[in-house]
Amino acid sequence: MLACPRCGADLPFTPGGPGQEDEEGVTELTCEEGCVYPVLGGVPLLLVDAEGYVGRHRESLVTTLAEADRLSRSTLATIRAFAAEEDLVPLADDWTAAEADGEGLPRRGTTAGPLEAIYAPLRGPQGSTVAQAIKLRIPKKIKGDVCIIGAGAGLGAARWLPRTVAPWVVDLSLRGALLATKTLGRGTPVVADVEDLPFLEDSLDLVVAENVLDLVGDPARACAAIARSLRRGGTAIVSSPDPALGGDDETTLAQLLGEAGLAVTACDDDLLWPRPHSRRRVELYVVQVLTCRKD
Ligand SMILES: C[S@@+](CC[C@H](N)C(=O)[O-])C[C@H]1O[C@@H](n2cnc3c(N)ncnc32)[C@H](O)[C@@H]1O
Ligand SMILES: [Zn+2]
Repeated sequence: MLACPRCGADLPFTPGGPGQEDEEGVTELTCEEGCVYPVLGGVPLLLVDAEGYVGRHRESLVTTLAEADRLSRSTLATIRAFAAEEDLVPLADDWTAAEADGEGLPRRGTTAGPLEAIYAPLRGPQGSTVAQAIKLRIPKKIKGDVCIIGAGAGLGAARWLPRTVAPWVVDLSLRGALLATKTLGRGTPVVADVEDLPFLEDSLDLVVAENVLDLVGDPARACAAIARSLRRGGTAIVSSPDPALGGDDETTLAQLLGEAGLAVTACDDDLLWPRPHSRRRVELYVVQVLTCRKD
């Protein structure tokens, strides 16, 4: 199922397993052509420059693993073995503080007072949320593997992911992959970059990238990676608060998906994405959701 992000060869991986441990306690995963990747706390880091990533983010990785109760001698040995000589960089994940604390939008009936008046239209029939639109576009029958890309804290996916689905939970941030899996209560966390998705060609049935493609360095490359990983007849649902990708043309994201070989079958626009910073401050984005099919 997984593929090497460097050479595309098969990457044997058993979800839930600790990873292969060598005599020094280093846990790693090796592709069939011999490329090696670190596995930290059971999570594979499938990045083209895994060594640079571990080197730059080693402090954040240790903190994240401690927070998730996944820190051991073996994880420390793995970080030491892989970390390239790099200046430390904090692991940026673009979440609001409230999202990072796992505080989503309060559920209906749980908030009293003035906030209720603000949240009510976001939940009711007057305004449709991004989560409602995504839920509507998910195929009734899912015939294979599902991948959530840029899952963040998992607060969005918790609202639309069918209960029976245990997805691949991909994020460039280890904290994101772990936290989203915890929020969802299921799934397999993987650290990867959407531009170099580590899945075999034609292997996924559904990919959802909610509010992430506007953040990546090369969105065209990301669209191509999504298209490559999907099976024929598979669905990609991509949402963004900036479908113009920094420019003026709001059809840019749809065009990139089309150029990648994905036919856009539905465009739901003007959807509301509330991002709570605190109980008293909520940012509101207006989002486009594109549903595509690989023919
Ligand atoms: C704005 S958050 C969206 C979170 C969630 N999908 C939602 O809508 O609530 C973007 C997420 O994408 C992740 N991300 C950013 N660049 C990425 C990349 N190149 N590949 C994979 N994930 C990425 C970030 O770590 C972050 O968790
Ligand atoms: Zn390889």
